[in-house]
Amino acid sequence: MIITPVIKGVVARSAHPLGCQQAVRNQINYVKSVAPIDNGPKKVLILGASSGFGLASRIALAFGGAQADTIGVSFERGPCEKGVGTAGWYNNIFFRQEAEKAGLIGKNVIGDAFSPQTRQQVIDYIRTEFDGKLDLVVYSLATGVRPDPETGEMWRSSIKAIGEPVTGPTINLETDTMEQMTIESALEHEIEATEKVMGGEDWASWIDILSEAGVLAEGCKTVAYSYIGAKSTYPIYHQGTLGRAKMHLHATSNTLNDKLAAIGGSAHVSVCKALVTKASVFIPAFSPYILALFKVMKDKGLHEGCIEQMQRLFSERLYGTEHTVPVDSQRLIRIDDWELSDDVQQEVASLMNQITHDNFAQIGDYHGYKSDFMQLNGFDLKGVDYQSDICIDSLQRLMP
Ligand code: NAD
Ligand code: NA
Repeated sequence: MIITPVIKGVVARSAHPLGCQQAVRNQINYVKSVAPIDNGPKKVLILGASSGFGLASRIALAFGGAQADTIGVSFERGPCEKGVGTAGWYNNIFFRQEAEKAGLIGKNVIGDAFSPQTRQQVIDYIRTEFDGKLDLVVYSLATGVRPDPETGEMWRSSIKAIGEPVTGPTINLETDTMEQMTIESALEHEIEATEKVMGGEDWASWIDILSEAGVLAEGCKTVAYSYIGAKSTYPIYHQGTLGRAKMHLHATSNTLNDKLAAIGGSAHVSVCKALVTKASVFIPAFSPYILALFKVMKDKGLHEGCIEQMQRLFSERLYGTEHTVPVDSQRLIRIDDWELSDDVQQEVASLMNQITHDNFAQIGDYHGYKSDFMQLNGFDLKGVDYQSDICIDSLQRLMP
């Protein structure tokens, strides 16, 4: 079978296993080629390990100098009658294979990170196969739904404005067109539900459960990821429902930091750069900003992808030779520093003023945006033979 890309709106409905393998290898090669993570963690749990920042964290921590054993939790689907399965499914498999070749553990736990069963499975694995202790917990889940642990009812997040509705252009990756869209103003219960799904509550509950189980090592750290962005995007992100959820996440990092102090550990939020991931393409009216940002940062030689961001986070901020973690006045780690620098933002603002539905592909970096999106799903990677006949039976034999 020849696997071709299928895109519906901003969602990919197919993935290329060989391309996913190549993408994992490219990230491994990158972290091996740059300054290593010194004094890094050895036993790491990554929640949301199969794509985006979580996968990049896992690769950086295993191959970027720390040589960490990792447990990666994710919610992914393998091949079946309906299709080849998700990109994250293959990212997990090929990561594990590369880790094992390097003599490292790359345990994949496929399941719902919110369920008690998954938590127990992780704890059991830490006890039996992982020397009983974690040095770092990375929280990188991105999802639209979370069950209420008390009632089992689903909270659903909404990507909405708070206050006035916002109208702005967004990009349809299926048709390569820029369309006007309006994000409505959120109702109070939508703000609360988004906070429940994307805020810090579940992160805190994981840390509590792991702590009660006694599987956090002396000095254990935890980190979760956030976005703030430029003023021009505040109405859609920072001051909208997602931003409200992130404020909750930031507050949670302080509570967890106080708790972990008891074992000499710490909790941080790292504010990251805007990037194309499975999750971020859903944010309405955000794409023109990313097109302008990528263009400017690439012209200045400052562009980073998930893997560059994560290697910098672990080597220059969370670990390394310095004893303190550099943070801002809100105790946040800022690896969005290059994105938010004045000269980058001035040029982005002037470019965004010029972008229209006719010229966005020429004056913004639409090529880079689309290509990143395709690569998330294993397409558009150099060195992959997309004409090769893929045998579904052999894919089915690949175990997570
Ligand atoms: P992603 O969609 O690439 O990854 C999400 C991960 O969560 C996947 O591994 C997925 O399998 C897993 N997941 C989702 N629901 C799950 C469930 N119920 N059980 C187990 N696993 C589940 O997302 P991402 O963009 O890498 O986002 C990770 C974090 O980084 C988020 O907090 C996001 O807000 C933040 N962030 C993203 C950007 C950006 O531009 N993409 C910028 C800054 C911060
Ligand atoms: Na992730």
